[in-house]
Amino acid sequence: MENSMAGRSSTFLLLLLVFIYFPWQSAKAEYNIMGFGAKSNGRTDSTKSLLRAWSSACGSSSNKGAIMYIPKGKFLLGHVEFKGPCKSSIVTIKMDGTLVAPSGYKGSGEEWIVFNKVDGLSIQGGTIDGQGASLWKCKESSSNCPHGWRSLLIDHSKNVKIKDLTSINSKHFHIVIHESQRVMMQGVKIIAPDESPNTDGISLQKSSDVTILDANIKTGDDCISMSAGTKNVWAERISCGPGHGISIGSIGKTKNENGVNNITVKDTEFTGSDNGLRIKAWGRPSTAFVRGVIFEKSRMKNVKNPIIINQNYCPNSKNCPNKNSGVKISGITYNDIQGSSSSQVAMKFDCSPGNPCTGISLKNIKLTYRGGQAKSSCKYAHGKSSGFVNPKSCLI
Ligand SMILES: *[C@@H]1O[C@H](CO)[C@@H](O)[C@H](O)[C@H]1NC(C)=O
Repeated sequence: MENSMAGRSSTFLLLLLVFIYFPWQSAKAEYNIMGFGAKSNGRTDSTKSLLRAWSSACGSSSNKGAIMYIPKGKFLLGHVEFKGPCKSSIVTIKMDGTLVAPSGYKGSGEEWIVFNKVDGLSIQGGTIDGQGASLWKCKESSSNCPHGWRSLLIDHSKNVKIKDLTSINSKHFHIVIHESQRVMMQGVKIIAPDESPNTDGISLQKSSDVTILDANIKTGDDCISMSAGTKNVWAERISCGPGHGISIGSIGKTKNENGVNNITVKDTEFTGSDNGLRIKAWGRPSTAFVRGVIFEKSRMKNVKNPIIINQNYCPNSKNCPNKNSGVKISGITYNDIQGSSSSQVAMKFDCSPGNPCTGISLKNIKLTYRGGQAKSSCKYAHGKSSGFVNPKSCLI
């Protein structure tokens, strides 16, 4: 009796040990920033604590990867660069709290939070608050204001996942993906006022194999922009507005530039935005091109330019080159684009005489203006249409 009790309890103890030990062994190593001295009061600078937590997570030899945990609360953070390559196979930044930038804009540099040369990064949840208001105010009344920090830059990185992150009030762009591959963004939320200058939502630059799903973007500039050297992009279920739309470009600002190709933008909703689906190229010689773009299923509510290609892009009409655009635009498909335009010309293809747009395809388009007939406008634009197309196609 005694013996079997002892036997049972030692079996129990053994099992308990196995249960305690085993999950711990197989779990990711976790580094809570509080353990590195971070303060959640929103006033004490936690930059050094986060950098130390990153060093530990990035340097972790756990074969399951490591977690840097940011708990609830507000953490004041200056410019930080989280550098790879990491020893850990994947570093997860798990966030329940908010990272807050200083509200001033004096400091130098153009970036706030940077991840550089990281292969295997996952950012989950949380909020980053760029506190851009005072810089926007400066820009409103002066042309001598600093550029301002882009809130989050993923640079020269691979295998990156950003899930359920919220970015508010960036000083400049919200999220930039630069020279990176295999990036998945899901459930990203972006919020800044309509009139905040240069606050592009997601900017893709020289990057490939990027997927953006379920993004909700309200901002003062492009909701999503894709510039030279970007390819293999899939964006689906995106809502945009206020904002300047989903833009390919601007492209062809310089002579030697890479093209943009294989872009799918599907199931989008634009509300009160300046543009819907836009391609913008500079009017000057360039090696750049845009080809293989599919815009499919889009709902427009009161959008100024629902469908637009512009080969004479020149913001603020200052020092415009006014030359033939060298950018070749071809193979652009618009399928199932419907809703209302807030200007009469709902569909505009303003291409270059030296480089006409070719292979534009329109299918099932229905755009109205004040409940009535909208117009289309074409310059040097070639293509075909099928299904219903209203306003009537002017492609040749
Ligand atoms: C085009 O991009 C998609 C991702 O959006 C990718 O799956 C596909 O392989 C790419 N096609 C080519 C020919 O590279």
